[in-house]
Amino acid sequence: MEQSRIAHPIGTALDRFIKNNQGQFQYASGELSQLLRDLALASKVVNREVNKAGLIDIMGPVGSTNTTGEQQQKLDVLANIRFTRALTKGGEACAIISEETESYTDLQNDGKYVIAIDPLDGSSNIDVNVSIGTIFSIYRRKTPIGSPITDEDILQTGEEQVAAGYILYGSSTMLVYTTGHGVNGFTLEPTLGEYVLSHPDMTIPEDGTTYSINEGMANHFPEQVKKYIQYCKDNNYRARYIGSLVADFHRNLLKGGIYIYPSTKKDPGGKLRLMYECNALAFLAEQAGGAATDGQQRILTIRPADLHQRTPLFIGSKRMVERACGVSG
Ligand code: AHG
Ligand code: MN
Ligand code: MN
Repeated sequence: MEQSRIAHPIGTALDRFIKNNQGQFQYASGELSQLLRDLALASKVVNREVNKAGLIDIMGPVGSTNTTGEQQQKLDVLANIRFTRALTKGGEACAIISEETESYTDLQNDGKYVIAIDPLDGSSNIDVNVSIGTIFSIYRRKTPIGSPITDEDILQTGEEQVAAGYILYGSSTMLVYTTGHGVNGFTLEPTLGEYVLSHPDMTIPEDGTTYSINEGMANHFPEQVKKYIQYCKDNNYRARYIGSLVADFHRNLLKGGIYIYPSTKKDPGGKLRLMYECNALAFLAEQAGGAATDGQQRILTIRPADLHQRTPLFIGSKRMVERACGVSG
Protein backbone atom coordinates (compact mmCIF):
# COMPACT_ATOMS: atom_id res chain seq x y z
CA MET A 1 0.00 0.00 0.00
CA GLU A 2 1.20 3.48 -0.79
CA GLN A 3 2.66 5.34 2.12
CA SER A 4 0.94 8.66 2.68
CA ARG A 5 2.96 11.71 1.78
CA ILE A 6 5.05 13.16 4.57
CA ALA A 7 4.83 16.94 4.74
CA HIS A 8 8.28 18.48 4.70
CA PRO A 9 9.14 22.03 5.70
CA ILE A 10 10.96 24.28 3.28
CA GLY A 11 14.67 23.95 3.97
CA THR A 12 14.62 20.16 4.42
CA ALA A 13 17.85 18.75 3.00
CA LEU A 14 17.48 16.59 -0.12
CA ASP A 15 19.09 13.56 1.54
CA ARG A 16 16.61 13.63 4.40
CA PHE A 17 13.70 14.16 2.02
CA ILE A 18 14.73 11.19 -0.14
CA LYS A 19 15.20 8.98 2.91
CA ASN A 20 11.86 9.93 4.47
CA ASN A 21 9.99 9.26 1.23
CA GLN A 22 11.69 5.99 0.41
CA GLY A 23 8.63 4.06 1.61
CA GLN A 24 6.51 5.51 -1.21
CA PHE A 25 8.43 3.44 -3.70
CA GLN A 26 7.04 -0.04 -4.23
CA TYR A 27 10.47 -1.69 -4.44
CA ALA A 28 11.82 0.32 -1.50
CA SER A 29 15.25 -1.05 -0.87
CA GLY A 30 17.32 2.09 -0.74
CA GLU A 31 18.92 1.70 -4.17
CA LEU A 32 16.71 4.22 -5.93
CA SER A 33 17.42 6.66 -3.10
CA GLN A 34 21.12 6.09 -3.52
CA LEU A 35 20.81 6.59 -7.27
CA LEU A 36 19.11 9.94 -6.76
CA ARG A 37 21.85 10.95 -4.34
CA ASP A 38 24.53 9.93 -6.88
CA LEU A 39 22.87 12.08 -9.54
CA ALA A 40 22.58 15.01 -7.13
CA LEU A 41 26.25 14.74 -6.18
CA ALA A 42 27.40 14.59 -9.82
CA SER A 43 25.25 17.61 -10.57
CA LYS A 44 27.08 19.59 -7.91
CA VAL A 45 30.38 18.82 -9.64
CA VAL A 46 28.90 19.83 -13.00
CA ASN A 47 27.47 22.95 -11.39
CA ARG A 48 30.95 23.92 -10.21
CA GLU A 49 32.28 23.48 -13.73
CA VAL A 50 29.39 25.41 -15.26
CA ASN A 51 29.95 28.26 -12.81
CA LYS A 52 33.61 28.69 -13.67
CA ALA A 53 33.14 28.09 -17.38
CA GLY A 54 34.17 31.65 -18.23
CA LEU A 55 37.39 31.43 -16.24
CA ILE A 56 39.06 28.35 -17.59
CA ASP A 57 39.33 26.84 -20.99
CA ILE A 58 36.26 24.65 -21.00
CA MET A 59 33.96 26.65 -23.21
CA GLY A 60 33.58 26.19 -26.92
CA PRO A 61 33.39 23.19 -29.21
CA VAL A 62 35.65 20.15 -28.89
CA GLY A 63 35.69 19.72 -32.65
CA SER A 64 33.63 16.53 -32.71
CA THR A 65 29.95 15.89 -33.30
CA ASN A 66 27.63 13.63 -31.32
CA THR A 67 25.43 10.85 -32.64
CA THR A 68 22.76 13.24 -33.84
CA GLY A 69 25.31 15.27 -35.81
CA GLU A 70 25.46 18.21 -33.40
CA GLN A 71 28.73 19.77 -32.42
CA GLN A 72 29.81 18.65 -28.96
CA GLN A 73 30.79 21.36 -26.52
CA LYS A 74 33.54 20.74 -23.99
CA LEU A 75 31.04 21.02 -21.16
CA ASP A 76 28.73 18.47 -22.83
CA VAL A 77 31.56 15.98 -22.80
CA LEU A 78 32.67 16.89 -19.27
CA ALA A 79 29.14 16.60 -17.88
CA ASN A 80 28.74 13.21 -19.55
CA ILE A 81 31.97 12.03 -17.91
CA ARG A 82 30.90 13.31 -14.48
CA PHE A 83 27.49 11.63 -14.52
CA THR A 84 28.81 8.41 -16.04
CA ARG A 85 31.52 8.22 -13.39
CA ALA A 86 29.08 8.83 -10.52
CA LEU A 87 26.65 6.20 -11.84
CA THR A 88 29.42 3.68 -12.47
CA LYS A 89 30.85 4.11 -8.97
CA GLY A 90 27.39 4.05 -7.40
CA GLY A 91 26.60 0.58 -8.75
CA GLU A 92 22.80 0.97 -8.78
CA ALA A 93 22.62 1.58 -12.53
CA CYS A 94 23.41 -1.26 -14.94
CA ALA A 95 23.15 0.76 -18.16
CA ILE A 96 23.29 4.39 -19.27
CA ILE A 97 21.64 5.90 -22.33
CA SER A 98 23.19 9.28 -23.06
CA GLU A 99 22.82 11.93 -25.72
CA GLU A 100 26.60 11.95 -25.99
CA THR A 101 27.17 8.26 -26.73
CA GLU A 102 26.01 6.42 -29.81
CA SER A 103 25.02 3.19 -28.12
CA TYR A 104 24.05 2.59 -24.50
CA THR A 105 26.78 1.84 -21.97
CA ASP A 106 26.50 -1.55 -20.29
CA LEU A 107 28.08 -1.09 -16.86
CA GLN A 108 28.29 -4.87 -16.42
CA ASN A 109 27.24 -4.96 -12.81
CA ASP A 110 24.24 -6.12 -10.78
CA GLY A 111 22.52 -2.74 -10.84
CA LYS A 112 18.73 -2.77 -11.07
CA TYR A 113 18.26 0.53 -12.90
CA VAL A 114 18.67 1.94 -16.38
CA ILE A 115 19.36 5.67 -16.73
CA ALA A 116 18.65 7.89 -19.73
CA ILE A 117 20.40 11.25 -19.54
CA ASP A 118 20.96 14.49 -21.41
CA PRO A 119 24.05 15.50 -19.41
CA LEU A 120 23.93 19.08 -20.61
CA ASP A 121 20.84 20.53 -22.22
CA GLY A 122 20.96 23.89 -23.97
CA SER A 123 24.52 23.60 -25.27
CA SER A 124 24.23 26.66 -27.46
CA ASN A 125 23.76 28.73 -24.30
CA ILE A 126 26.95 27.60 -22.55
CA ASP A 127 29.22 30.21 -24.11
CA VAL A 128 26.81 33.08 -23.47
CA ASN A 129 26.18 32.52 -19.76
CA VAL A 130 22.52 31.61 -20.16
CA SER A 131 20.75 28.88 -18.13
CA ILE A 132 21.43 25.27 -19.07
CA GLY A 133 20.41 21.97 -17.50
CA THR A 134 20.65 18.20 -17.08
CA ILE A 135 17.69 15.87 -17.71
CA PHE A 136 17.43 12.31 -16.40
CA SER A 137 15.02 9.35 -16.49
CA ILE A 138 15.26 6.25 -14.31
CA TYR A 139 13.83 2.83 -15.30
CA ARG A 140 14.02 -0.58 -13.68
CA ARG A 141 15.85 -3.15 -15.76
CA LYS A 142 13.52 -5.79 -17.19
CA THR A 143 15.84 -8.74 -17.76
CA PRO A 144 17.16 -10.77 -14.81
CA ILE A 145 20.30 -9.54 -13.11
CA GLY A 146 23.31 -11.44 -14.41
CA SER A 147 21.94 -11.79 -17.95
CA PRO A 148 23.07 -9.44 -20.75
CA ILE A 149 21.31 -6.09 -21.14
CA THR A 150 18.86 -6.19 -24.06
CA ASP A 151 16.60 -3.78 -25.94
CA GLU A 152 13.86 -4.78 -23.52
CA ASP A 153 15.79 -2.96 -20.77
CA ILE A 154 16.72 0.00 -22.97
CA LEU A 155 13.71 0.79 -25.16
CA GLN A 156 11.09 1.28 -22.46
CA THR A 157 8.19 3.70 -22.73
CA GLY A 158 8.05 6.83 -20.60
CA GLU A 159 5.21 5.30 -18.61
CA GLU A 160 7.70 2.82 -17.22
CA GLN A 161 9.89 5.49 -15.63
CA VAL A 162 10.17 5.07 -11.87
CA ALA A 163 11.70 8.49 -11.37
CA ALA A 164 12.76 11.46 -13.46
CA GLY A 165 14.04 14.96 -13.00
CA TYR A 166 16.25 17.79 -14.10
CA ILE A 167 18.88 20.09 -12.76
CA LEU A 168 18.69 23.71 -13.84
CA TYR A 169 21.97 25.64 -13.72
CA GLY A 170 20.34 29.05 -13.63
CA SER A 171 20.60 32.17 -11.49
CA SER A 172 20.37 29.58 -8.75
CA THR A 173 20.84 25.85 -9.25
CA MET A 174 17.78 23.69 -8.77
CA LEU A 175 17.04 19.98 -8.79
CA VAL A 176 13.43 19.07 -9.55
CA TYR A 177 12.32 15.45 -9.50
CA THR A 178 9.44 13.02 -9.21
CA THR A 179 9.12 9.38 -8.24
CA GLY A 180 5.49 9.35 -9.34
CA HIS A 181 4.23 10.95 -6.12
CA GLY A 182 4.17 14.61 -7.10
CA VAL A 183 6.98 16.96 -8.01
CA ASN A 184 9.39 18.61 -5.60
CA GLY A 185 12.03 21.25 -6.23
CA PHE A 186 15.27 21.77 -4.33
CA THR A 187 17.62 24.73 -4.50
CA LEU A 188 21.36 24.35 -4.07
CA GLU A 189 22.50 26.34 -1.07
CA PRO A 190 25.95 27.21 -2.39
CA THR A 191 27.72 27.85 0.92
CA LEU A 192 26.52 24.53 2.36
CA GLY A 193 26.78 22.62 -0.92
CA GLU A 194 23.38 21.07 -0.12
CA TYR A 195 20.14 20.92 -2.06
CA VAL A 196 17.30 22.08 0.20
CA LEU A 197 13.58 21.84 -0.39
CA SER A 198 12.39 25.16 -1.79
CA HIS A 199 9.40 24.21 -3.98
CA PRO A 200 7.32 21.45 -2.30
CA ASP A 201 4.54 19.74 -4.24
CA MET A 202 4.87 21.74 -7.45
CA THR A 203 1.80 22.10 -9.64
CA ILE A 204 1.54 23.76 -13.03
CA PRO A 205 -1.33 26.20 -13.57
CA GLU A 206 -4.06 24.59 -15.68
CA ASP A 207 -3.94 27.46 -18.15
CA GLY A 208 -1.45 30.16 -18.95
CA THR A 209 -0.50 32.99 -21.26
CA THR A 210 3.16 32.26 -22.04
CA TYR A 211 4.20 30.39 -25.19
CA SER A 212 7.71 29.17 -25.95
CA ILE A 213 8.63 28.17 -29.48
CA ASN A 214 11.42 28.96 -31.92
CA GLU A 215 9.31 31.27 -34.04
CA GLY A 216 12.13 31.79 -36.53
CA MET A 217 11.05 28.44 -37.96
CA ALA A 218 7.40 29.48 -38.26
CA ASN A 219 7.28 29.11 -42.05
CA HIS A 220 8.02 25.42 -41.58
CA PHE A 221 5.47 24.69 -38.84
CA PRO A 222 2.42 22.45 -39.42
CA GLU A 223 -0.80 24.39 -40.08
CA GLN A 224 -2.28 23.58 -36.66
CA VAL A 225 0.77 25.06 -34.91
CA LYS A 226 0.69 28.17 -37.10
CA LYS A 227 -2.97 28.57 -36.18
CA TYR A 228 -2.20 28.23 -32.47
CA ILE A 229 0.63 30.79 -32.60
CA GLN A 230 -1.78 33.20 -34.27
CA TYR A 231 -4.25 32.53 -31.45
CA CYS A 232 -1.52 33.37 -28.91
CA LYS A 233 -0.83 36.65 -30.69
CA ASP A 234 -4.49 37.53 -31.06
CA ASN A 235 -4.79 37.14 -27.31
CA ASN A 236 -1.62 39.12 -26.53
CA TYR A 237 0.15 36.16 -24.98
CA ARG A 238 3.72 36.52 -23.82
CA ALA A 239 6.45 34.93 -26.02
CA ARG A 240 9.44 33.55 -24.07
CA TYR A 241 12.09 31.30 -25.60
CA ILE A 242 15.42 30.69 -23.89
CA GLY A 243 16.55 27.86 -26.15
CA SER A 244 17.33 25.59 -23.21
CA LEU A 245 14.44 23.17 -22.89
CA VAL A 246 15.00 22.71 -19.15
CA ALA A 247 14.90 26.45 -18.49
CA ASP A 248 11.86 27.06 -20.71
CA PHE A 249 10.04 24.12 -19.11
CA HIS A 250 10.93 25.25 -15.59
CA ARG A 251 9.56 28.76 -16.12
CA ASN A 252 6.34 27.40 -17.58
CA LEU A 253 6.02 24.89 -14.74
CA LEU A 254 6.11 27.70 -12.21
CA LYS A 255 4.09 30.32 -14.08
CA GLY A 256 1.91 28.34 -16.49
CA GLY A 257 2.66 28.17 -20.19
CA ILE A 258 3.37 25.92 -23.13
CA TYR A 259 6.61 24.84 -24.80
CA ILE A 260 6.34 23.60 -28.36
CA TYR A 261 8.96 22.02 -30.58
CA PRO A 262 6.87 20.80 -33.51
CA SER A 263 7.87 18.86 -36.57
CA THR A 264 9.44 21.22 -39.10
CA LYS A 265 10.48 20.84 -42.72
CA LYS A 266 14.08 20.46 -41.49
CA ASP A 267 13.19 17.97 -38.75
CA PRO A 268 9.95 16.23 -39.83
CA GLY A 269 10.08 13.99 -36.75
CA GLY A 270 10.72 16.92 -34.42
CA LYS A 271 14.12 17.86 -32.98
CA LEU A 272 13.98 16.82 -29.34
CA ARG A 273 14.94 13.36 -28.18
CA LEU A 274 12.27 11.13 -26.70
CA MET A 275 14.38 9.07 -24.33
CA TYR A 276 16.53 11.66 -22.59
CA GLU A 277 14.71 14.95 -23.09
CA CYS A 278 10.97 14.49 -23.56
CA ASN A 279 10.09 11.50 -21.37
CA ALA A 280 11.47 12.93 -18.13
CA LEU A 281 9.79 16.30 -18.63
CA ALA A 282 6.54 14.62 -19.69
CA PHE A 283 6.53 12.58 -16.48
CA LEU A 284 7.16 15.74 -14.44
CA ALA A 285 4.51 17.70 -16.36
CA GLU A 286 1.85 15.05 -15.77
CA GLN A 287 2.81 14.67 -12.12
CA ALA A 288 2.42 18.44 -11.74
CA GLY A 289 -1.06 18.33 -13.36
CA GLY A 290 0.05 19.36 -16.85
CA ALA A 291 0.23 17.51 -20.16
CA ALA A 292 2.79 16.42 -22.74
CA THR A 293 2.01 15.09 -26.23
CA ASP A 294 3.58 14.77 -29.66
CA GLY A 295 0.47 16.45 -31.08
CA GLN A 296 -1.48 13.20 -31.20
CA GLN A 297 -0.53 10.91 -28.35
CA ARG A 298 0.86 11.22 -24.85
CA ILE A 299 4.66 11.33 -24.93
CA LEU A 300 4.75 8.70 -22.17
CA THR A 301 3.03 6.08 -24.34
CA ILE A 302 5.43 6.29 -27.32
CA ARG A 303 7.39 3.06 -27.72
CA PRO A 304 10.94 3.99 -28.78
CA ALA A 305 12.48 2.02 -31.64
CA ASP A 306 15.83 3.74 -31.25
CA LEU A 307 17.51 5.32 -28.23
CA HIS A 308 18.16 8.60 -30.08
CA GLN A 309 14.63 8.79 -31.49
CA ARG A 310 13.16 12.27 -31.90
CA THR A 311 9.62 13.45 -31.35
CA PRO A 312 7.59 16.65 -31.68
CA LEU A 313 6.79 18.03 -28.21
CA PHE A 314 3.85 20.03 -26.84
CA ILE A 315 4.26 20.36 -23.08
CA GLY A 316 2.97 22.49 -20.23
CA SER A 317 -0.37 23.74 -18.95
CA LYS A 318 -3.13 21.26 -19.81
CA ARG A 319 -5.56 23.69 -21.46
CA MET A 320 -2.83 25.20 -23.59
CA VAL A 321 -1.57 21.81 -24.78
CA GLU A 322 -5.12 20.77 -25.67
CA ARG A 323 -5.71 23.93 -27.67
CA ALA A 324 -2.34 23.80 -29.42
CA CYS A 325 -3.04 20.24 -30.53
CA GLY A 326 -6.51 21.15 -31.77
CA VAL A 327 -8.30 19.12 -29.06
CA SER A 328 -10.21 22.20 -27.88
CA GLY A 329 -10.91 25.69 -29.14
P1 AHG B 1 21.00 20.01 -26.44
O1 AHG B 1 21.81 21.20 -26.03
O2 AHG B 1 20.98 18.95 -25.37
O3 AHG B 1 21.38 19.46 -27.79
O4 AHG B 1 19.47 20.45 -26.54
C1 AHG B 1 19.10 21.61 -27.25
C2 AHG B 1 17.61 21.59 -27.44
C3 AHG B 1 16.79 22.22 -26.33
O5 AHG B 1 17.41 22.43 -25.13
C4 AHG B 1 16.30 23.52 -26.88
O6 AHG B 1 15.06 23.87 -26.38
C5 AHG B 1 16.31 23.28 -28.34
O7 AHG B 1 17.32 22.34 -28.59
C6 AHG B 1 16.56 24.53 -29.11
O8 AHG B 1 16.52 24.26 -30.46
P2 AHG B 1 16.44 25.42 -31.53
O9 AHG B 1 17.75 26.16 -31.48
O10 AHG B 1 16.23 24.71 -32.84
O11 AHG B 1 15.28 26.31 -31.16
MN1 MN C 1 19.03 18.68 -24.79
MN1 MN D 1 22.62 17.88 -24.42
